[in-house]
Amino acid sequence: MVFPLGKPVKITDTTFRDAHQSLMATRMRTEFMVPIAEKIDRVGFFSLEVWGGATFDTCIRYLNEDPWERLRTLKRCVRKTKLQMLLRGQNVVGYRNYPDDVVIKFIEKAYENGVDIFRIFDALNDLRNLRTAVKTVKKVGAHAQGTLCYTISPVHTVKYYVETAKGLAEMECDSICIKDMAGMLAPEPAYKLVKAIKEEIGLPVHLHCHSTSGMAMMTYLRACQADVDIVDTAFSPLAWGTSQPPVESLVAALRGTPYDPRFDMELLVEIADYFRELREKYYDPIRLINPLAERVDPSILVHQIPGGMFSNLIAQLKEQNALHRLKEVLEEVPKVRRELGYPPLVTPTSQLVGIQAVFNVLSGERYKIVPKEVKDYVKGFYGRPPAPIDEKISRKIIGDEQPITCRPADLLEPALNKIPEEAKKYIESDEDMLTYVLFPTPALEFFKKRKRKLEEKVVPLKKREELERVAAVSAAIAFYSTSTGEVKAVIPKRLREGLSPWVLAGRKALTERRTR
Ligand code: CO
Repeated sequence: MVFPLGKPVKITDTTFRDAHQSLMATRMRTEFMVPIAEKIDRVGFFSLEVWGGATFDTCIRYLNEDPWERLRTLKRCVRKTKLQMLLRGQNVVGYRNYPDDVVIKFIEKAYENGVDIFRIFDALNDLRNLRTAVKTVKKVGAHAQGTLCYTISPVHTVKYYVETAKGLAEMECDSICIKDMAGMLAPEPAYKLVKAIKEEIGLPVHLHCHSTSGMAMMTYLRACQADVDIVDTAFSPLAWGTSQPPVESLVAALRGTPYDPRFDMELLVEIADYFRELREKYYDPIRLINPLAERVDPSILVHQIPGGMFSNLIAQLKEQNALHRLKEVLEEVPKVRRELGYPPLVTPTSQLVGIQAVFNVLSGERYKIVPKEVKDYVKGFYGRPPAPIDEKISRKIIGDEQPITCRPADLLEPALNKIPEEAKKYIESDEDMLTYVLFPTPALEFFKKRKRKLEEKVVPLKKREELERVAAVSAAIAFYSTSTGEVKAVIPKRLREGLSPWVLAGRKALTERRTR
């Protein structure tokens, strides 16, 4: 093949954010990122996407980790490469609009703690929802990447996207991201879209694709031919399926072309080996790595459901014992989407459309049950839908009530000065304050656990005595029980924490005895 002139493409690694959010419910812990972060820093990536999206919420809700601490830790390990986060515009890292004071303070603190590049999107591509965020990012002196959420509908044409990109350029964004969260962007439309934006806007274009339908690698190559500046990948063990395409394969495929980023292949393979091992550790077909999410599924081109949403739908249906109705729900999604004015399916609209489709199927009557979030959407509280909402459906949901026409956040009172006393006693920093305002209930739980942990550290002697006593018993149990390989089963669950060195010692003793 003869290639036209071109330049080496820059690459962003998403392994610490989007990849594990797409494939393993965002459950990768900081302690598993730290040992490999410095090596990833040596590759020469344009940036590492490590924060934002669902990682913030998951840290406090499920991992008992402080997301701010994660950011600081990664900043210490990654010295050369820029750190990037995904910011949901006025939704920050949550699922609804927050008032401006929260958006502003959050960005200031994220920048202080280590974020260099803010990728900012709004699910509806409603630029009013991006304005405060972009303005603040520019003000603190960071890189503001304005995002176009890519979707397919009669209203989402190249012209529509170029017009929206113009709006982003007017806000003084530093680059434009095309966010193909569902993996539906085919090579030719990508070529046309990238070319049009490059020619008419002139800003660097960053392409973010998911492998869901299996097209992403070809789309990237075609985008390179349209002079795309940056593309997103993940390391192969956490790539493919609903995640990004694998970096090693892309780099190998671009060898001998002008787009070759010239990465050290051996280094890439070494890093991939680490994630391969880690992936095995996390492998749990029931809970974490969803085998369905890992596979390529071209039916996405019909149902248009992005990575995170797909695993959510499966989880919701499993909970209701209704997994066998997945096909019906997948068929309902595009109908709901059309009726709601073709919102791109990305957080939070993907959840709205998804939950409504589930209700429409499981309740036996369409729009019989409508959650508050969907009502708010129809009332305009999420922003302006790309196309008008179906009138009949709108009437069924909100009756004669008129939707709002102003920027949704204009209706919100400042929130940072309204923290209840009950919460204040746990808040130790501005970062805590933001965590609380964004997710009050899980944040409070998290703060309480953190306080308990700290108090335990204050009485180390008592704790140590107790640990030693328990450890002695458990080492003995481990010693006798490893012959059956059932160590875990015989040590009560509540004692397991903090005992692993002793259990290991027990195992070691046994192995030594065996080999003797
Ligand atoms: Co993504």
